[in-house]
Amino acid sequence: MKFLLPPFALLVATATAAPTSRNGKQGQEGQQGQQGQQILATFDDLPSLPGVSELNPVGNYRGLKWQGFDVLQAGVAGINAVLPQSGINVAANSIVSDTLQGGISLTPLTAKSFDFQSLYFGCVVNTVETAASAPEQCTVAFTAYKDGKSIAHTTINEPFTPTNPLISKMAKATFPSSFSGLDRLDIAVVQSITPGTLTALEIDNVSYQLNSK
Ligand SMILES: *[C@@H]1O[C@H](CO)[C@@H](O)[C@H](O)[C@H]1NC(C)=O
Repeated sequence: MKFLLPPFALLVATATAAPTSRNGKQGQEGQQGQQGQQILATFDDLPSLPGVSELNPVGNYRGLKWQGFDVLQAGVAGINAVLPQSGINVAANSIVSDTLQGGISLTPLTAKSFDFQSLYFGCVVNTVETAASAPEQCTVAFTAYKDGKSIAHTTINEPFTPTNPLISKMAKATFPSSFSGLDRLDIAVVQSITPGTLTALEIDNVSYQLNSK
């Protein structure tokens, strides 16, 4: 008898086990916790065509507006220079995306704010019309905006160095608590081997939490 827990204790145990904290293990997608909704964006459930990204804006996806990103089918052999972290799709930005959509900016659709936790990223030399090319070293700036202010709260620069000159793995960037409670995140390639116009940024497995309050 002494191992039987009262219903109240079970309820507490269940609530505690829910993956709500930004430090917790990756939660089930779409799980609603006390603090917010944990998301892993992989772009794999978005339509894509091999090697063609510019006409497929990510748009509104998983609670965020992904300005400046297009869906790129990168996981097809021979198509790309940076391996997706999951599935065949990544989100890609290039000068063409910028021209059509403006610079890269993530904003919540209906959530009050979001906690930006981590992502995988890589840079490739951007050839005309496709992203089939070679990986290249780059530095990417992530700039956090909070509390409705137009002045940046924090900027972090993250380096990408190809693990292989032909087909590279992505690099992982993990963000500190200063990237919590954001109302906007701007992303920019601030340094690369080729001129900025010839560099495309690719991202995958983006983890964040949507906060309703
Ligand atoms: C990326 O996301 C996929 C799909 O959820 C998952 O299977 C994979 O383990 C993730 N990879 C990393 C390194 O997080």
